[in-house]
Amino acid sequence: MDRILIRGGRPLRGTVQVRGAKNSALPLMAASILAEEACTLHNIPCLHDVFTMDKLLSSFGAKIEFTGRYMTIDASTLDNFVAHYDLVRKMRASFFVLGPMLARFQKARVSLPGGCAIGTRPVDIHLKGLEAMGANIAIEDGYVIAEGALKGVDFSLDFPSVGATENLLMAASRARGVTRLNNVAREPEIVDLAHFLNAMGAQISGAGTDLITIVGVDALGGTEHVVIPDRIETGTFLIAGMATGGDVTVQNANPDHLPTFLNKLRDAGGEVEVHGTRIRAAAKNGLKGVDITTQPFPGFPTDLQAQMMSMLCLAQGVSVMRESVFENRFMQVAELIRMGADIDLDGTAAIVRGVNGLSGAPVMASDLRASAALVVAGLSAAKGETSIARVYHIDRGYERIEERLASLGADIERVRD
Ligand code: UD1
Repeated sequence: MDRILIRGGRPLRGTVQVRGAKNSALPLMAASILAEEACTLHNIPCLHDVFTMDKLLSSFGAKIEFTGRYMTIDASTLDNFVAHYDLVRKMRASFFVLGPMLARFQKARVSLPGGCAIGTRPVDIHLKGLEAMGANIAIEDGYVIAEGALKGVDFSLDFPSVGATENLLMAASRARGVTRLNNVAREPEIVDLAHFLNAMGAQISGAGTDLITIVGVDALGGTEHVVIPDRIETGTFLIAGMATGGDVTVQNANPDHLPTFLNKLRDAGGEVEVHGTRIRAAAKNGLKGVDITTQPFPGFPTDLQAQMMSMLCLAQGVSVMRESVFENRFMQVAELIRMGADIDLDGTAAIVRGVNGLSGAPVMASDLRASAALVVAGLSAAKGETSIARVYHIDRGYERIEERLASLGADIERVRD
């Protein structure tokens, strides 16, 4: 298994290109199931999660070509309607196939994803929404078995779940009649999905607000679409720059996708400049503690909480970080403490008291974003060497992270045991 070795204490400087958003690419790939013709997606990131979705769609009979940064998916010939446990357990986003499969073929059998390190993560809202649209749903042997023709409905989500909004949006685009989805997620990835579906011939309005209206259509056709930039990767590079006392510019980013985050960087002492699709951040006069509560978009993204915590470990003063989206998302804390951080956990809050420096240590990645937090901590640890085990977590969401950080001046390498 691979490890990442970091000798920290070097300020990161320079410019890095952000890749396409993982959390857009995965639902867009699933949405291609809805079309009778081939769809081409540009700016697809080369990530393990993308390979898993590729395998899943191929297992249904889709023909997929993935060359460089673009992918063509031809789902005209699907002949299998089962998403098996071995693929779904590797990646929860596999559950995105349920809505489109059901809408196009009136049947689907998809393994329940189960919980993961950051929480139990149920799919009750996805299922309630599909049932409201007329699906018959049964759970048998760990699988969701869904059948029936979908019809338009007024449905309000109990919580603005990103995945449930995406599943229902895809399903409703080919349901009979009009669907109004209330209290939906407003994340940029939802807007990207709606643009893609509309380009395929869907009739969706209101994406990006909390009410989306979908006029169902009989069929969807092929199209080409460019995946939006990854806002979490953008944020991770900016944090790494500030945490190491460096000066990093991220290119091809969309600053409108990170409103609260960029303000929090400023509150933490960051000099943040935005020029079109370039975002630069540096903290020349040191870091200050800030209070942060994760929230659905446009609030502070839960996917940047762990990385931000690593930076705040080195800030002057106390930061209180609250996690309101997931129940168990402070997996990085125990490892950060082993690197010299001063953090107390109090239920859903973490109290981070800034220290003068972190020191490298052998640590273990527990999930995708926690592992990115350990990379940030390792880069900013002035003393010692950090060795991060279980880096397969980071490969799920960051493309060749070590090479791109090395291009900014980091002393980082991947070693094979
Ligand atoms: C997506 C992102 C993930 C991000 C999260 C929140 C993808 C592939 N993943 O995950 O990176 O951290 O949004 O921004 O896009 N919930 C329920 N019932 C449901 C669905 C969700 O209770 O049916 C709860 C979850 O347990 C969690 C909260 O709602 O506590 C948010 O989950 P959700 O927005 O659905 O996240 P995902 O779509 O799984």
